[in-house]
Order: sequence, then C-alpha cells, then structure tokens
Amino acid sequence: MTTVFHVSDLHFGWPAVPEQIEAIEQIIQMKKYDVVAMSGDLTQRARAGEFQRAAAFIRDARKVSEVITVQGNHDVAWWKAPLGFGDKPKIYENYRKFIDRDLEPMLHVPGATFVGINTAHGVTRRTLTWNLRDISIIGDIHKHQLDKAKDLFEKSPPTDARVIVMHHNPVRGELSQRHGLKNTQKILGAFAEMGVDLVCCGHDHQESVHYIEHTRKGTVISTAGTVSNRSRGGRPSSVNVIDVGLETIDVTTHVWSKEHRTFVKGPHKRFKRSDYVATV
Ligand SMILES: [Fe+2]
Ligand SMILES: [Fe+2]
Repeated sequence: MTTVFHVSDLHFGWPAVPEQIEAIEQIIQMKKYDVVAMSGDLTQRARAGEFQRAAAFIRDARKVSEVITVQGNHDVAWWKAPLGFGDKPKIYENYRKFIDRDLEPMLHVPGATFVGINTAHGVTRRTLTWNLRDISIIGDIHKHQLDKAKDLFEKSPPTDARVIVMHHNPVRGELSQRHGLKNTQKILGAFAEMGVDLVCCGHDHQESVHYIEHTRKGTVISTAGTVSNRSRGGRPSSVNVIDVGLETIDVTTHVWSKEHRTFVKGPHKRFKRSDYVATV
C-alpha cells in the first residue's frame, strides 16, 4: 500500500490561510505518508517570497515523506515572455530557483511510480482563446511530454501503480463548468494507453474524484481542492488522501472544519484497479 497526501493550490501569498497551512503541516508530520503530491499553484504571483514559504513547507514535508511537486499557472511569470516574445526561461526562474530545477520530476516509491507533467506554459499561441479571462490560465500538454511519460512508465516495475501529477484538471469542474486543460479527451486517451492508474491534479479549486472508463484501462482522477481563501463557491478548503493498493485505489477527501480547527474526513470513494470497476 502506498499512501499519498494530495494537496493543491496552496497559493502562498495573500490567499494563504496560516491556520490551515499549519494544520496540514501537522497532519503530514503526524501521518508520515509515503508521498506528498503537490499539484501546483504553490504561489499566488510567482514571487520569490511566496516561493520561499512554499520551499519551507516542502522542506518540512521531506523530513517524513517523499515529495513531488509541479508548477501551476500561478507559479509561472508569464508576463516575462508572452507568446514566445522575451526570455522564455525567465518565466520558470523562481520555481526553478526555490522549488525544483526539474519541471517534470519523477519519483519511485515501493509500489508506485509518479511522473510530473508540466501543464503551465505561460501565454502561448496554442492556449490563447477569445476570452481575455483565460490569459495564462489554460493548461497544455505537448506530444513530447506524453512520449517522455510513457517511456518513464515503461521503464518502471510492471506492478507499480502509474501516477501522473499535473496542475490542470482534465475533468470539467462541477461549479466552474470548465476543464483546465486543452484537448482533454486526447490527453485522457493517451494516459489510458500508457496504463495510468491515477492522476493527481488541481487548479479548479473544487475537489472532485472521478473514474474515467476506457477500453484499455480506467483512470482515477483526484482533483484536490484548494487550501486557501480562494475556494470555489465558498466551499471549505480540502485535501485528498489516497491509498494506492495492489487491487484498489481509495480516495478520501478531508475537509476543513471551522469547529475542529483542522481537516476532518469527508467523502470516500474506492475504485478497483484489477477489473477497473468503480465502486462507491
Ligand atoms: Fe489555483
Ligand atoms: Fe491554477
């Protein structure tokens, strides 16, 4: 069994809620999960001070768990190179300096291989829409990134669960009614083809757990909510705790309780890995 604490969209900076951050820091130290997966938007404005606070959070988590992170759209200084003009590496500068030089890290733990995919590329022609609100918001995955992930999974132990960590949600949010990612059907199809068991993502600021059926293989999508004051529809902050077993994947959402001043167990879903039939 591999235990995963999946947290997203901490948005260090003005949206962060210190009491909630302290609560998840305590939970991580106490529960000692195998992996802490952070699916991006560590910061609000990609500023050095925000990344330093995120780096301190990660450093503490690393004392007890393996940590894998990817960047979100808020972690990219897109205005430094819009539409390919300017110095492209500059947009990732602070993330690389304070968090990880590698934008697409890989992590092996007994029973699972995690592959990070960077979906936040700043403002590009591929993700530009007529909606000005979307500027720098939409996520994208290029073919060479899928090829790389496939290659890494093929080199991993065959019994390992295959887990993707990325920022943008490929499943439409219930309240937002939006996908975060471009070409979602194509991407989910490619994940199924490469045998992905689980996707850990965020971005929507509303938690959800889905099972995507596919003729080849089904995939569990864990969309973590946010831990900040930017939750959608005034919902409480939340995180997802995932148990990846040989035959099952259990996802339990933990929700902030004002009364208990910590995160408490919320909805739980169990999915079978072996025959790909979801049960609640
Ligand atoms: Fe976010
Ligand atoms: Fe985001």
